[in-house]
Amino acid sequence: MRKLVIAIDGPAGAGKSTVAQIVAERLEYTYIDTGAMYRAVTLFVLRKNISVCDVEAVSRLARESEITLAYEKGKTRVYLNGEDVSEAIRMPEVSRMVSHVALIPAVRQAMLKLQRQMAARGGVVMDGRDIGTQVLPNADIKVFLTASIEERAKRRWQELTSKGIAIDLEELKEEIACRDRMDCERETAPLIKAPDAVLIDTTGLSIEGVVQEILKLCEERRKFV
Ligand code: CDP
Ligand code: CDP
Repeated sequence: MRKLVIAIDGPAGAGKSTVAQIVAERLEYTYIDTGAMYRAVTLFVLRKNISVCDVEAVSRLARESEITLAYEKGKTRVYLNGEDVSEAIRMPEVSRMVSHVALIPAVRQAMLKLQRQMAARGGVVMDGRDIGTQVLPNADIKVFLTASIEERAKRRWQELTSKGIAIDLEELKEEIACRDRMDCERETAPLIKAPDAVLIDTTGLSIEGVVQEILKLCEERRKFV
């Protein structure tokens, strides 16, 4: 039986990575978190003290970034040039800067190439902003997850607080709204629902409820592949 390719897009905090990871586990597929890749490049830029305005230098760093994703003990680990940066890429400084880095076309080009290589063998669940539209336009299943900004900010706040990262809820809401705006309005590969993607509003939905909806779509699709 051919393994499916599943693309999940949507704004920050919609539940993409949580849901994508569970779907991948249930189907025994590989989960690919493309946001983590943009975050890894951003961390590299921050560490090198390069300004995001220096497009040439940032693009060069993106091309030099050796990013690998590994699945260990039920969690995705992210490696940047051999170093485990899984925790570092979630820090607020990275979140604030990542959308500025992600709008640079050469950065996107470098990530797109890596992402397509990662998905080449099929049996993948990939999440991000442009997966259904640019990275895997022929995906078997496309899902666009969303939720109200209040709910998304609250979810992210709870997540960070539980990890001991103190952040003001209003400030976080503002940061997420600003990131959404940048992601939706950029010229290259903006965040937009692919015409053939299934829209799921996860406001008020449980994680398992969303997982079940996607698994149902997979079952339906199976009848035709
Ligand atoms: O987890 P969260 O929703 O906060 O964000 P993420 O998935 O880690 O992505 C971080 C940022 O990377 C996004 O806000 C986008 O600017 C960028 N990104 C992108 O441009 N394209 C993707 N396919 C994935 C992420
Ligand atoms: O990847 P994305 O930014 O879209 O969201 P996420 O990191 O998967 O989810 C953000 C937080 O919301 C996580 O702590 C999830 O456990 C939680 N979540 C939720 O409470 N209800 C859902 N239906 C989906 C996610």
